Amino acid sequence: MAILDKHAILEKNVTLLAIFAFLVVTIGGIVQIAPLFWLENTIEDVEGMRPYTPLELAGREIYIREGCYTCHSQMIRPMRDEVERYGPYSLAAESQYDHPFQWGSKRTGPDLARVGGRYSDEWHVDHLRDPQSVVPESIMPKYGFLEHTKMDGKYIGELVATHKLVGVPYTDDMVANAIADFAAQADPDADYDGLLERYGEDSVQVRNFDGQPGLSEADALIAYLQMLGTLVDFSTFVPDASR
Ligand code: HEC
Repeated sequence: MAILDKHAILEKNVTLLAIFAFLVVTIGGIVQIAPLFWLENTIEDVEGMRPYTPLELAGREIYIREGCYTCHSQMIRPMRDEVERYGPYSLAAESQYDHPFQWGSKRTGPDLARVGGRYSDEWHVDHLRDPQSVVPESIMPKYGFLEHTKMDGKYIGELVATHKLVGVPYTDDMVANAIADFAAQADPDADYDGLLERYGEDSVQVRNFDGQPGLSEADALIAYLQMLGTLVDFSTFVPDASR
């Protein structure tokens, strides 16, 4: 066939082949990428999503610092085995305030995207202190030092402001009250009305997470873990198919 004969010219001339291959990849790339610039939003707005509280955000920093992500992913894929094990598959909106995201593909330990509320705070304290005490066959390292490392939260205002700078919708009020909100969430005797008002009454958990006096890194980390995957209410969530 004539057209195939012409193709033979390409196959025999490596420079010409490279030029045409480049053209094809360029066109394919543009077709894939360009529409994203005109879409209003590539992330569906989902009810319940809110910026992390200062305590959760601090816990998230510890999570990253300790390299928890090297063994744990935070993304439930839409496959049956994953959904049955971990719960509803992760939505893009659920990591829209994550800088950096914690999706990952390395699962030495289980996915943590919906670990919030699965265990008690005490379980987490025991598990962080000595994972093998609650899961004998665990190979997770011990993180007992976290409960002995107290936090004063001095840098929390800057941390929140930095996330605001990269696009997380923290209000000026949230930034200004970051240190107070940070301390209030781990102290049920404190005045935490402002915290609930700023971040939402239904989704903020106020407790002494590590069960010990003072605010430790374990408090922050457990506050973060107990929030993971709990913000969107999947009993009422309906995916918006119109986008
Ligand atoms: C060397 C790999 C490794 C690292 C690093 C690691 N973990 Fe784990 N993690 C595991 C394994 C394996 C399990 C499953 C056994 C168990 O429950 O201990 C696990 C289980 C867990 C669970 C229980 C999950 C569930 O659904 O049962 C939580 C919560 C957890 N890890 C949190 C953390 C946090 C927080 C950090 C960082 C401070 C961390 N892990 C670091 C390997 C790791």
